[in-house]
Amino acid sequence: MRARSTGIFFALVCAALAPVLISQAMPGSPTDNTQTPPSPSAYAGDAACAQCHRKEAEFYARTAHARDSAPAAAEHVLGSFLPGHNVMRTSDPDLVVNMVAGRDGFYQNAVNLAHPENHLTERMDIVIGSGRHGQTYLYWQGDQLYELPVSYWTWDHDWVISPGMPDGQIHFDRAIVPRCLECHASYFRWIPPDASDTAANRFAKDSLVLGIGCERCHGPGAEHVARERAAPGRNAGTRTSEQAAAGSNGGAIVNPAKLSRDQQISLCSLCHAGAVEPLRPPMTFLVGDNIRDFLAIQPSKADEPVDVHGNQVGKLEESKCFAGSQMTCSTCHDVHRTQEDADAFNRHCLACHAISACGRYHALGAAIRTRCVDCHMPEQESGKIVSNTGGRTLHGLFRTHRIAIYPEASAHVERAIAGK
Ligand code: HEC
Ligand code: HEC
Ligand code: HEC
Ligand code: HEC
Ligand code: HEC
Ligand code: HEC
Ligand code: HEC
Repeated sequence: MRARSTGIFFALVCAALAPVLISQAMPGSPTDNTQTPPSPSAYAGDAACAQCHRKEAEFYARTAHARDSAPAAAEHVLGSFLPGHNVMRTSDPDLVVNMVAGRDGFYQNAVNLAHPENHLTERMDIVIGSGRHGQTYLYWQGDQLYELPVSYWTWDHDWVISPGMPDGQIHFDRAIVPRCLECHASYFRWIPPDASDTAANRFAKDSLVLGIGCERCHGPGAEHVARERAAPGRNAGTRTSEQAAAGSNGGAIVNPAKLSRDQQISLCSLCHAGAVEPLRPPMTFLVGDNIRDFLAIQPSKADEPVDVHGNQVGKLEESKCFAGSQMTCSTCHDVHRTQEDADAFNRHCLACHAISACGRYHALGAAIRTRCVDCHMPEQESGKIVSNTGGRTLHGLFRTHRIAIYPEASAHVERAIAGK
């Protein structure tokens, strides 16, 4: 991580704190910058894929992946700008941020009420997060990208200080490193730091493609599209079942189902193995590659709390289910559709376990059927995603992927069953 004096440092903040705050941010800059990502022309975009793959594309636009990042337009920003709901207070009663809906966009306006001449306003340019748990907003300063001080939390439908930023202060200086966009966008060109400029948050603005699209998981598809369009009878919705069964004879696209288990897990690990130090430049990992060549992945620690940037891969790998089977993420998730309710996951468990295999079946009977996940993959309170706003402390709740026996969670669910 490189810190850089930004020149737009909010005057309300003690300047000496800046390096501390920046070092809390996510790991970001790779050590080896020689490899280059595919050019934008190698990608076709989701609209092209949808022309022929109606089944996969039909519900995709509504998934959290597709809606994961977007321009900060009214339909994407979840918080309220109405009077009474548009002020974020901090534990310092003088420091507030007004959330302002202007004619040409949304703004965050920070003010020191004791010194009203002390204020700063920046526009919300980009939304990160579909809002399952929350959203964070970014702004451009030239070609540099920064995180705004106010985020939105879905738990209490309110504005909060951006996670990781200290309460009682307002910061506009948190640089967005490329890893952030590598997990939260489809494409961008990063401008790496050089001897004359150490900023790690410069991007070619026009190159940014928001949302997580099909080709993030299937690899660049322009060649596949060109070949399939050239092949007779292969246009919109005209695939025959023989063609589907034979697979794409044109190739030039990756079906993760045909990769090894390690390669399949590698793909999801790019974004679901938590905060990890990158080894190579952003956007160079492609489906089929071994993730360990790109990220310094460490084994997950048993007592590591789950959180919004948690390690679903590492936790799942700790499970006996994973060790004793060929389970991948696709065993339970179809990423082309919106997520099922937790209750519905039991059918995936029951594909491998008989309901009577559960040690509590004799005592509780069929009542356990829809609750496998509540007892064996319980939601846990995050130690990290804690937001302190206006003196309140909020903890995020996240599902663990370590499938195991949790006596406390089980006792809780048993009480709920008995109470019925
Ligand atoms: C002109 C039509 C067309 C377009 C556009 C198209 N495909 Fe395909 N695709 C096909 C056909 C035909 C097949 C082979 C039959 C099948 O497997 O369904 C195929 C196969 C695939 C496969 C399976 C490959 C395999 O080896 O099993 C994937 C994955 C895929 N396409 C993804 C994409 C993505 C992602 C896009 C957008 C970048 C896209 N396709 C655009 C027609 C198209
Ligand atoms: C390019 C990064 C990236 C890759 C690759 C990726 N994901 Fe995600 N995934 C995300 C992000 C970011 C979110 C959070 C989206 C949001 O809510 O804004 C997410 C969310 C999810 C969710 C929660 C969705 C919901 O609706 O609750 C599931 C499940 C998931 N991913 C599974 C997978 C699986 C399985 C794979 C591998 C096949 C995968 N992801 C690959 C970035 C990625
Ligand atoms: C290693 C990949 C990765 C990096 C780096 C990363 N994120 Fe995430 N982020 C994810 C995934 C995956 C999720 C969804 C996980 C979950 O639901 O448990 C997520 C969730 C979020 C959410 C909540 C989304 C929602 O819909 O609830 C926000 C906001 C967010 N990230 C912002 C950021 C910002 C800002 C940065 C950079 C400073 C960043 N993330 C860096 C992978 C990443
Ligand atoms: C988060 C990663 C991810 C994204 C995004 C994604 N896919 Fe997939 N896709 C997969 C995985 C994983 C599989 C293999 C699933 C399995 O194991 O059955 C797959 C399989 C496929 C297949 C082969 C289906 C078959 O029957 O063999 C097609 C076609 C496809 N995807 C098209 C798309 C299209 C079109 C989009 C965008 C609308 C898309 N995918 C977005 C991960 C993804
Ligand atoms: C792909 C097959 C598969 C799926 C799907 C699966 N499991 Fe398992 N599970 C296993 C295997 C294999 C073991 C190890 C059995 C052994 O070692 O005797 C196991 C072990 C377990 C254990 C014992 C864990 C321990 O630490 O002692 C529990 C509890 C469990 N599974 C619950 C679940 C639940 C709940 C689900 C659904 C969320 C699920 N499993 C899905 C294959 C699977
Ligand atoms: C045995 C079934 C199972 C497997 C395998 C599995 N998941 Fe999940 N996953 C779940 C369940 C259950 C939920 C919670 C759904 C809910 O609460 O609505 C979930 C939720 C998620 C979420 C959203 C978490 C949150 O707190 O918002 C992400 C992200 C995710 N899974 C990623 C993955 C990835 C990546 C893999 C592969 C490493 C994977 N999952 C494998 C069952 C599974
Ligand atoms: C009320 C909580 C609860 C629910 C609901 C529940 N389990 Fe369990 N399960 C437990 C507990 C507690 C144990 C350990 C019991 C023991 O050792 O006597 C256990 C044990 C298991 C084991 C390991 C058995 C062994 O011999 O190691 C499996 C497998 C399992 N459950 C699967 C499931 C599946 C599948 C479901 C959903 C159909 C489910 N459980 C629902 C609490 C629950």
